[in-house]
Amino acid sequence: MSDNKTLVLYFSAEGNTAKVAKEYAEKTGADVFEIVPEVKYTAADIRWTNPLARCNREQIAGKEVPVLGKVENFDQYEDVYIGFPIWYGQAPRVVHTFCKGYDWKGKKIHIFATSGGSGIGKTAEKLAPSVPGAEIVDAKVVKSADEI
Ligand SMILES: Cc1cc2nc3c(=O)[nH]c(=O)nc-3n(C[C@H](O)[C@H](O)[C@H](O)COP(=O)(O)O)c2cc1C
Repeated sequence: MSDNKTLVLYFSAEGNTAKVAKEYAEKTGADVFEIVPEVKYTAADIRWTNPLARCNREQIAGKEVPVLGKVENFDQYEDVYIGFPIWYGQAPRVVHTFCKGYDWKGKKIHIFATSGGSGIGKTAEKLAPSVPGAEIVDAKVVKSADEI
């Protein structure tokens, strides 16, 4: 097990964020953990133009989205980079559910998101209640690992 102080967490439904997150972790030597929902998103699940698609139902209801696995030794990390796609101007529900499972006291969070064009907006403010005690030091939309 590493004694790294930096962790890169990411969720990615279509691969864009995954690519950036993996590149960044490789470049910096940080540990990396993928947030995977218990039920993976199919193409139909994320077709946001369909009002009845899973993504819309989860978003409207502010649902919890159960996740697979757990970060071992979360305590050891000081800086946590959290990457995800912007969904409806903020983090997908699954990221909120994941974050609620950990003690964030004293952690420094750096948010990086990919998007179809939206800026970061109020993403950090909206994620804050799910990471109580953490300091969100940075939040930005990026196109590549070099921008993190
Ligand atoms: C359900 C859903 C909602 C989205 N909402 C937004 C949005 O509000 N603004 C935006 O610019 N892009 C939005 N997008 C596009 C994604 O943010 C963009 O394609 C992102 O890079 C996907 O990342 P991924 O490949 O890691 O899943 C949305 C995509 C989906 C599937």
